[in-house]
Amino acid sequence: MPGVDMVMSGSADSTTGFGHGKVILLGEHAVVFGQPAVAAGIGAGVRAHVSPGSGAISSPAWELEAQVSDDSLPGQAVRRLLDSLKVEGASLDFWLESNVPARAGLGSSAAMAVAIARAVAARTGASEAGVLTAAAAAESVFHRTPSGIDTAAASRGRLGSFDKQSGWKDLPLKAPFDLCVGLSGQSHNTGALVASVADLCATTPVAKRLLDAMGDISRAGMDALAAGDITTLARLFNMAHGLLSGVGVSTPIIDELVHLARAAGAMGAKLTGAGGGGAVIALAAEHGEEVLRRWRAKGYYGFITTIGHD
Ligand code: MEV
Repeated sequence: MPGVDMVMSGSADSTTGFGHGKVILLGEHAVVFGQPAVAAGIGAGVRAHVSPGSGAISSPAWELEAQVSDDSLPGQAVRRLLDSLKVEGASLDFWLESNVPARAGLGSSAAMAVAIARAVAARTGASEAGVLTAAAAAESVFHRTPSGIDTAAASRGRLGSFDKQSGWKDLPLKAPFDLCVGLSGQSHNTGALVASVADLCATTPVAKRLLDAMGDISRAGMDALAAGDITTLARLFNMAHGLLSGVGVSTPIIDELVHLARAAGAMGAKLTGAGGGGAVIALAAEHGEEVLRRWRAKGYYGFITTIGHD
């Protein structure tokens, strides 16, 4: 099974599993309403180590200490995941190494859920389908009504399209390309942002047309990716950012990151994920380092990730 391995250390047996962080290239929020989206699992992610213990969940990187039996969100999420895999969690410990920031729009909770589910599956022999079902159960604790795109990207670790009807499909890509990722430093609540878009559509039904247009932009993005047409993809990023602002999920800091990237030479930039803070992505070709420099000069951390490598 991908992403799982067994480690024996001393007398205690420990299993590990990995889940990728993700970026949504196009279609976030619209995907919740049945439209297609384009996303990619990235190299950064979460590695879970599961060993015999007493139900402790620890992640030094996220300053997280919880128990499978407590009412914290991680506690509830891991409990649901274990119920789904029919495993007694009080007899296991969960140690998480992460190089994706939490609540930053990069799919940290889905990466955690996939990593833990894979590490548990390595002990029980659960199938990859069982892993995905368990990870989805955990995600619903964090995100109430997730579309499923985050767990799909966390498990696949590559470029794909996703819609609620057909699930994940790997996308052909003519050539790998670099994406600048900038972090706003504002943490966000994906469930609340998804609910705010649903409220907007209920009170102002024309907003639904913006989500439909985002679906059209995702379809155009798939064509652009298949043709290796990064210039068109970048234009689509700019259009998508305008529509996401229109449904109220951008923030002044996110807009600043987008504008700094464009001023540094990026052809296209947009928020990625739920918004309300979180992260921005930019297509900048040879201007990538300049984008990072301008973000850094204003106190924002950024990095470059390559899309198109497994
Ligand atoms: C969050 O990464 C993406 C959203 O579309 C929510 C979802 O699809 O579950 C905002």
